[in-house]
Amino acid sequence: MCGIVGYVGCNLAYPVLIDGLKKLEYRGYDSAGVALHAGNSLEVYKKEGKVANLEEYVYGKNIQATVGIGHTRWATHGVPSDRNAHPHLSNSGGIAMIHNGIIENYAQLKEELVLKGYTFKSDTDSEVLLNFIEDIKINNECSLEEAVRIALRRVVGAYVILLIDTDLPDTIIAARKGSPLVIGIGENAHYLGSDASPMLAYTKEVVYINDYELAIVKPDELILKNLGNERITPFVQKLDMELAAIEKGGFDHFMLKEIFEQPQTIFDSLRGRMDATIPAITLSGIEKIKGKILEANRIIIVACGTSWHAGLLAEYVIEELCRVNVEVEYASEFRYRNPIITDKDIIIAVSQSGETADTLVAIENAQKQGATIFGLVNVVGSSIARMSDAGAYTHAGPEIGVASTKAFTAQLAVLYLVALKIGQLKGTIENTLFNKLLEDLAKVPEHVQHILEDQNEHIREVAKKYTDARDFLYLGRGYNFPIALEGALKLKEISYIHAEGYPAAEMKHGPIALVDESLPVVFVATKDPYHEKIVSNIQEIKARKGMVVAVISQGDEVIPTLADDVIVVPQIHEIIAPILSVVPLQLLSYYIGLNRGLDVDKPRNLAKSVTVE
Ligand code: AGP
Ligand code: GLU
Repeated sequence: MCGIVGYVGCNLAYPVLIDGLKKLEYRGYDSAGVALHAGNSLEVYKKEGKVANLEEYVYGKNIQATVGIGHTRWATHGVPSDRNAHPHLSNSGGIAMIHNGIIENYAQLKEELVLKGYTFKSDTDSEVLLNFIEDIKINNECSLEEAVRIALRRVVGAYVILLIDTDLPDTIIAARKGSPLVIGIGENAHYLGSDASPMLAYTKEVVYINDYELAIVKPDELILKNLGNERITPFVQKLDMELAAIEKGGFDHFMLKEIFEQPQTIFDSLRGRMDATIPAITLSGIEKIKGKILEANRIIIVACGTSWHAGLLAEYVIEELCRVNVEVEYASEFRYRNPIITDKDIIIAVSQSGETADTLVAIENAQKQGATIFGLVNVVGSSIARMSDAGAYTHAGPEIGVASTKAFTAQLAVLYLVALKIGQLKGTIENTLFNKLLEDLAKVPEHVQHILEDQNEHIREVAKKYTDARDFLYLGRGYNFPIALEGALKLKEISYIHAEGYPAAEMKHGPIALVDESLPVVFVATKDPYHEKIVSNIQEIKARKGMVVAVISQGDEVIPTLADDVIVVPQIHEIIAPILSVVPLQLLSYYIGLNRGLDVDKPRNLAKSVTVE
């Protein structure tokens, strides 16, 4: 959601900024802009729509600046338009600012500024903050840095801001609270970004900025301070990421590339953590909080969207294997409903980006009440990872497609390990089952590879049949129910077709009214001890003339006689099977979205990293 970039150095800033904005496009946005130093003034170019529109608009202009800031906006206050796009210029024209986040008390600040004669060209909360800063700078006759510090003490909300000022020709001032900011260290240059992708081509040395920190960034100097004006030593980290990881590598879309990467990413998420031959699991994050886990009354899993679906499956698995109470919470609900938390609670925060605002605040609140936070995060160095007491990275590599695919299966893989490890520590899992699950987990990468090789073409054909459907129902029972929810979410995101995920047996309590010959119903129906129950559910749909697509286990001879289309996945223990069943559903959504001519990597209205609540 929204991307910010900045460059201070000796080379031309504009190409670095545009390239950086393109790298951040995956986060989701509706307009783009840049501001650059031009002698004694600032140049601002901004346009509604894609970064390509901005490039077209700027084409032919001779921009010589070596300092600048750039933004992709995901509108919260004011419609997407050229006028509301960032950067904004202050009333004097002397300061330009980009902002990611929301200023909650902007209305009050705006009222004060209007009384002082300030005027506003946009409807954004961001322009209010900018003029508020300018007003402080003028009235206090202070530096921009000081004005920012004073302003931020009054601001309620979440932000990353980057500012350039005609008084400071070689400087970017940056500050954050609640939204991500990374600064890359180059040779006589610094790169700023919402994540590390814009700077990957130039440097591997980065500093992750923390909340309430302010950075004064010049080509050869990076000064970090807290809001009390005390210096902080920047903690420089080495990025373990290659440029190729954020490029398409021969695939038409990032989503398809990421689906096909899953044999490798699942392998990476398990690598070094399990050995099916001993058999044993090594998870240092769990070891670190072992005492807390053994004493815990319950585990609460907090997440949003696809990550919540991973959490729901983990609830089923952890309760089964560890005999401990598990609750799964939507972070946005959890944070506002005054839940009862004690120091006997373990919170597992699941997040691909590690920046989801609701998840972040939910765990902050729980931590204050004494809970222990275990972060299961994909993006290394992200806010959730850094504030967790312990954790495990999912190691899926950068996920660029807005619809989560490889991050989800990596989450499942690591959650299986977490459940098995806790079960072993608590002595609640029998050796034979432990060994069997570990053995099956080790086979997942090759099974996923098999599905991709064996079923891809078939799924592409199946997708053609259902591309024009208006609605879809996704049904599953037990461990497959979260996968039905995830399948439906994926289809909605990518194809804009209305889809509902439901527990298969609940269908009779309502959704069955929707069934007629035009409704495709996708069953996640791999083999488990209750297989005949889902077979009956399929019969119920067929009896009402619905169309059935079923994901089934190899060797199932019954469902192929009932369903209109089947997609076959290898047979594996029912606890592990969901990590396989989801793969065909990802492909099905991808091909349906593609057939409908949609931008599958950047679905409308969605953002990759939801940094506002
Ligand atoms: C997944 O396809 C979605 N785009 C979305 O639901 C996502 O899973 C959710 O926003 C949570 O993000 P996170 O994992 O980065 O916290
Ligand atoms: N709240 C600001 C706006 O609507 C910033 C949104 C963003 O993070 O892109 O312009």
